Amino acid sequence: MNTNKSVVVVGAQWGDEGKGKVIDFLANQADVVSRFQGGNNAGHTVVYGANIFKLHHVPSGILNSGTLCLLGNGMVVDPLVLVEELAALEKRGIDTSNLRISGKAHLNMAYHKDLDKANERLLGERKIGTTGRGIGPAYADKVMRRGIRAIDMTGFERFRERLAEILPLQNRILKEIYNHKGYDINELLELYCPALEKLGPMVTDVAQLLIENLKKRKKVLFEGAQGALLDIDHGTYPYVTSSSTVAAAAATGSGLGPQYLNQVLGVIKAYTTRVGEGPFPTEDHSEAGEQLRERGNEFGTTTGRPRRCGWFDSVIARYAVMVNGLTGLALTKLDVLSGMDEIKMALSYRCRGEEVKNFPISIEELKDCTPVYETFSGWDEDISRVRRFDDLPFAARVFLEALEENIGVKIELVSVGPDRSQTIIYQDSKLESWIVPAE
Ligand code: IMP
Repeated sequence: MNTNKSVVVVGAQWGDEGKGKVIDFLANQADVVSRFQGGNNAGHTVVYGANIFKLHHVPSGILNSGTLCLLGNGMVVDPLVLVEELAALEKRGIDTSNLRISGKAHLNMAYHKDLDKANERLLGERKIGTTGRGIGPAYADKVMRRGIRAIDMTGFERFRERLAEILPLQNRILKEIYNHKGYDINELLELYCPALEKLGPMVTDVAQLLIENLKKRKKVLFEGAQGALLDIDHGTYPYVTSSSTVAAAAATGSGLGPQYLNQVLGVIKAYTTRVGEGPFPTEDHSEAGEQLRERGNEFGTTTGRPRRCGWFDSVIARYAVMVNGLTGLALTKLDVLSGMDEIKMALSYRCRGEEVKNFPISIEELKDCTPVYETFSGWDEDISRVRRFDDLPFAARVFLEALEENIGVKIELVSVGPDRSQTIIYQDSKLESWIVPAE
C-alpha cells in the first residue's frame, strides 16, 4: 500500500543544517511528526515570532496543537532531560499531551553520560568530540543486549528489577576502567521516579500508531537528526554518531516497511559546518570561515561549541543524495552568504595527484583530499525578505542553479532567515500539499 503521504527529512551534511526550521515549516501541515534515531545529542532551534524554542528530543510538531508527536524505537531517550524539556514547553503554554514514546526505544541513563565523557578523556588526542550526552554508550548497551527500554518505565517494580540486573556490571565498568565511584541503586531509583511517573503513561506501540495513521492517509513527517556524514555506517567513521542517520532508518527506527517512505527531503546548508573532530575537506581557517561562523551564528544548540566552517562541498552533497535516496533538497541559510565578496563551491577533490569525484571510504584518504573550487560572484542585497526565486539577486540565482546541477537533485525550498515565513518555495515543488498557501 502506497499512502503517498509521508516525507522523511534528513540532514545531508554533518548535522546542524537547519533541519529544525524546515521541519517546523512542514510540521505545520503534518498530522504526525516522528523521530526515529538519535537522542538529545540533537538540538533544534525553532524561531516562531518572538519565541525561540530549543528542542532536543521532542519533535518540532509539538508547537502545533493536535499534531501527534512520536519518539520511535530507533531513539535513545534520556528520561531526565525529556522531563525537563516537557516542563519548559508546558511553562510556556505548549500542550505536550500529544507526545508518545515507543516502548522499544532505549533509555539513555546517567551512567551512559559518565561513560561517554570518561571514554573521551581516555581517548585523549583521538577523541571523537561527542556531545557528551551518553549517546554512544546507550547504543552500545542496546547492541550488547543490556539496555533498559522505555517499556521498563511503565511500572516502578519493573524498572527497579531491570536496573538491579544491569547496574552491577555498569558499576564494575565505571569503577574498574574509568575510576568512577559508581551508582547506588536507591539513589538512581529516586532520581528516575518522577520521570517514570511523567513518561510511563506516554509509552506505547509507536509502529502501530504510525501504520494506523498512514492507512488513514494522514500526513506523516519523519524528523531525522544529525546528518549523512555522521551516520554510523556511511559517515566519516569513527568520527560519527552511533545511530543510522540516513533516510532508510526512518523505516527501521519506527517499525515500518520502506514502502511507507515517500519523499526524502535532504536539508543542506549553503556552506558547510561540522562540530567535533574528524576530516572536513572544505574547512576554511581564513577570514571567510570566520565570517561564516559569525554571520551564520554557528555555535552548537546542544553544547554551545563553535562550529568549524567552510564552503559548500558538492562531493559530500552528491554522496548524501546517494546514501539517502534524496528526492529533493531544502537549502538553508542562503542569507548568510549575502555580503561575501566571493563564494566558493567545491566540485571535486584532488587527492595524491588524482581527481576524486566520489566520497572516499577511507578517512586517511579523505584527510589528503583538497577541494577543487569554482568561485562565484557574491551579492550585497539583503535577501531575508525575498519570497520568490525570481526576486533573488542574479548572483544568488546563478549559485543555486550551479548547486542543483552539481548535485543532480532539485531544490524544493530555500530558507533566507530563521523565521517560518522566511522561506522561498520553488514553483514546481513536490511539497505543495505540505505548505500553507501564502496569504
Ligand atoms: P555523539 O552523537 O554525541 O556521540 O557525537 C558524535 C559526533 O556527532 C560528534 O562529532 C558530535 O559533534 C556529532 N553530533 C552529534 N549530534 C549532532 C548534531 O545534532 N549536530 C551536529 N553534530 C552532532
